Amino acid sequence: MYKGSGVVQHIQRTRLEQVDTLLVVGSGKGGVGKSTVSVNLAVALAQQGLRVGLLDGDAYGPSIPMMLGVRKRAASKGSEAVLPLAERKELPREKKLQPLVRYGVKIMSVGFFIGEEQAVAPMPDVLGMLIRQLLYSVDWGDLDYLLIDLPPGTSEPQATLCREIHLDGAILVTTPQDIARIDTAKALAMFQQSSVPVLGIMQNMDGFLCPHCGGHVDIFPQSQEVRSVLDVLPVLGRIPLDPAAVVSGDKGHPVIISLPDSPVAQAFVLAGQQLASLIQQQHHQISSSQNPAAVSEDALEGKTEHDREG
Ligand SMILES: Nc1ncnc2c1ncn2[C@@H]1O[C@H](COP(=O)(O)OP(=O)(O)OP(=O)(O)O)[C@@H](O)[C@H]1O
Ligand SMILES: [Mg+2]
Repeated sequence: MYKGSGVVQHIQRTRLEQVDTLLVVGSGKGGVGKSTVSVNLAVALAQQGLRVGLLDGDAYGPSIPMMLGVRKRAASKGSEAVLPLAERKELPREKKLQPLVRYGVKIMSVGFFIGEEQAVAPMPDVLGMLIRQLLYSVDWGDLDYLLIDLPPGTSEPQATLCREIHLDGAILVTTPQDIARIDTAKALAMFQQSSVPVLGIMQNMDGFLCPHCGGHVDIFPQSQEVRSVLDVLPVLGRIPLDPAAVVSGDKGHPVIISLPDSPVAQAFVLAGQQLASLIQQQHHQISSSQNPAAVSEDALEGKTEHDREG
């Protein structure tokens, strides 16, 4: 069920056949807003009419179910919440797990396979297997985008994903402080070493929006880092810090749904548009490099991309 396979650094990485663009959302730092960004970006893409899935890859602190108002009990209802971790192949369709759908996004979480009050999370090496198997075992259907919300840091499941799965891109989430940016730079190095394209940065908590006057206050001092490696990356979005975002997230309604006109929601909509056009450009570049003749013929005839689609 996998289309093709790429050999990068002598490692065979599998590509999910039904997923057009597989993206990870990560950061070296905890609590910077990876899950908030993943959820709101996923909904923003779905609102553009794209087919979107979201996999919560954080076994130690799965947040997606809560942020989207999905409970584990409902999630495992009617499906066998047991994963054959030792297997590396895809399950037959009838045995696959059905994702839940919220706000047009198909959702699955490693949290569904761990007791809600369970204090002991799986060993790190199991985390990689768990995520890999979820990618294989969930009935995602055809997707334009599958986003994986990663836990903080650069260990598992990041290592397994980078090693074994073809990732089309990584989105790095950071806050403006140096301490977060330094840790995020470590995540950047991890993706670069694995030849995973880093698409850009989501700068979260970028100033505070006063709920009384609507004024914008810079809480964190501007980065003192000189020539930060992050500076060369495109900024996909700048998301202000807004208490409404926390309330919405905690109640299971992402801010893009509950307060669509708020500056935070608008910033996510814009980031979703930026991301989609970046990916479109990337696909276009790939198809041009694979079929240069067709492109140069079009160019000679003065055809645009729009003409070709039509
Ligand atoms: N722009 C924002 N404005 C206000 N609160 C925010 C914003 N972004 C995130 N938060 C809040 O900050 C907290 C941490 O966010 P989130 O869980 O998304 O971070 P994370 O990076 O996924 O954390 P972890 O490393 O634990 O996975 C949450 O309570 C969330 O609601
Ligand atoms: Mg998180």
